[in-house]
Formats: sequence, structure tokens, C-alpha cells
Amino acid sequence: MKGIVLAGGSGSRLYPMTAAVTKQLLPIYDKPMIYYPVATLMLAGIRDILLISTPRDVERYVELFGDGSRWGLNISYAVQPSPDGIAQAFLIGRDFLAGEPAALVLGDNLFFGSGLSRRLVHAAELTEGAHIFACRVDDPQRYGVVELDAEQRPLSIVEKPRHPASNWAVTGLYFYDGRASEIAADLVPSARGELEISDLNARYLKEGSLTVERLGRGFAWLDTGTPETLMAATQFVCALETRQGIKIACLEEIALAQGFITADAFARLAAGAPVSPYGRYLKTLLADLEIEASPVPLRVVGARGR
Ligand code: DAU
Repeated sequence: MKGIVLAGGSGSRLYPMTAAVTKQLLPIYDKPMIYYPVATLMLAGIRDILLISTPRDVERYVELFGDGSRWGLNISYAVQPSPDGIAQAFLIGRDFLAGEPAALVLGDNLFFGSGLSRRLVHAAELTEGAHIFACRVDDPQRYGVVELDAEQRPLSIVEKPRHPASNWAVTGLYFYDGRASEIAADLVPSARGELEISDLNARYLKEGSLTVERLGRGFAWLDTGTPETLMAATQFVCALETRQGIKIACLEEIALAQGFITADAFARLAAGAPVSPYGRYLKTLLADLEIEASPVPLRVVGARGR
């Protein structure tokens, strides 16, 4: 399965923070926002990634990620000339996908929870139909909303409904079979002039091939489109990382755990990391690795275990 990260848009709700810096490069606590959705794709086992951004900003991402090989990824880039809708990602990404199944993640969505990786890996096995995730929210009017029957089968899906049929918001992480580009090409812009991702999902729903997985208690899904939600995401990541001594969305750590890079490659990344809490974390992981690899059984507790 291939992956697309959509990181365009105007970020107008975060103005003036976004006047000179693209929204998805703003920090969520200790790393750029875009690290979190990229980490989500990596946890799903996806290595071929297309990053779509604006003509102004795409070069910033190239600067940040390069070709992704540092993390064992293969990242390519494309431009969305104007924010004409999330489903447009599948038109822009048509050649990249070449008819293969795809996961799309929005560049401002953060997922966290125990057992998430297993669910992502399972979703990435999809070859037919579409699979989306839904989370309970208090303000469903702001989202795509899915109505479910007693067996969790989707009944309807509507973008930003005035009168939501449920409190289940569709998250910004979508898995599709190889037909997504073809179906997206057949969509027409909505009243607000966008190719809506909810319309793409509604097509799969209509043919009976859309499945919805609820993320219940124990999962955090945060989107970061407003100053308040940006702050909430920062506080969430800060609280977790500080309390537990772990990092969320540490790309080097995930790359190693997923087998995308070797221990030697990880060691080089850790050794070359600048002095910062993130850099120190990598060095701590490296020290843990070296202890594990040591032929002499040592009783040493790394920073993560302290
Ligand atoms: O976060 C989940 C929600 O994301 C879903 O529940 C909705 O169904 C979906 O439409 C979307 O709603 P938003 O109101 O959050 O969409 P927004 O226009 O803010 O775009 C989400 C991200 O995608 C944002 O970081 C900008 C980027 N984007 C958006 C559009 C419309 C693009 O890169 N290009 C675009 O054309």
C-alpha cells in the first residue's frame, strides 16, 4: 500500500501564525506537526509516500524530509495549486498510485493510542473497498459525520452537517482500494467548491464497500486547525512525553522498530542528531540498543525505564 500526506490548505484559521510558515510545519510540542501523520503511515507499514502541499510550501517539506531515505522511506512531492478539496489528492496522486491501494492522511491529524499500530497494519491490508475511522466528538458539525447501525455498518456520511445524524466524526485517515483516483475523477465540486472526501467515502458506502472502525476510549485523535486545538495537542504530547519519558512520532525510532532501517543506520542518525531533547532521546535509545546487543548481561536501566 502507498501513502499520501495532504499538507496544503491556507491555514487561515491559524493566521497570523501561518502568514509566513505553513500550518503543518508549526510545532506540536517538540516536533513539526507533519511528523505525526507521517508517523501514522509508517506505523501502518507504509514506506512509499507522496507529500502534497502548496506551491509556496512544498520546498520546505523537501528541506525537512528530503527523499525520506534517512528513515527508510521513499518520499516524493507534488503540488496542489489551490485548496480545491481533500479528494483532489487522488487526482494529483494518480500517477504516483498507479492503481495501487492507498492510505491518505491529513497533515494536521494526530493519532495516539494503545493498539493503534495493530489496527493500522490491519487497515493497510485492504485490497477492496474503503476503510475509515470514526471518533466520538462533541461538535460533529465541524467534521464529516458517519451514521452507524447497530452492527456498526455505515448508513450515511455527510460533510459538516447542520443537523448531524450522530456524534461520530470521520477522522482524517482513509484507506482505499486501487480505484480511489478513478472514483475521485468522477466527483463534482460541492457547494463550497471542493472535491469532498466525504463524497468519495459516500461512493464506497453506496456500493456497500465502506467499512468504519470506531476509535473508542483509549484513543486520542486530535486535529489541529485552530489555536485552541493546536494548544491542546501540544499539551497532550507534552504531558505524555514528560510523564513517560517516551516520544510520540519519533520517526527514527519508528523506522528502526518497523525494520525500515538497520541498527547501524539508526546509530548514525542518533550520533549525528543535534543537542536537543529530541536528539538526547535518540541517544538514549541508542544506548539502550547497545546494552541489549551487549554479550554481557548488564543491569542497566535506560532513560525510558527510569
Ligand atoms: O480532520 C478530519 C476532517 O477533515 C474530516 O472529518 C472531514 O470530513 C474533512 O473534510 C476534513 O475537514 P476539515 O474541516 O478539517 O478540512 P480542512 O479544509 O480544514 O482540511 C484539512 C486539512 O487538509 C488541512 O490541514 C488542510 C488540508 N487541505 C485541505 C483542503 C480542502 C489541503 O491540503 N488541500 C485542500 O484542498
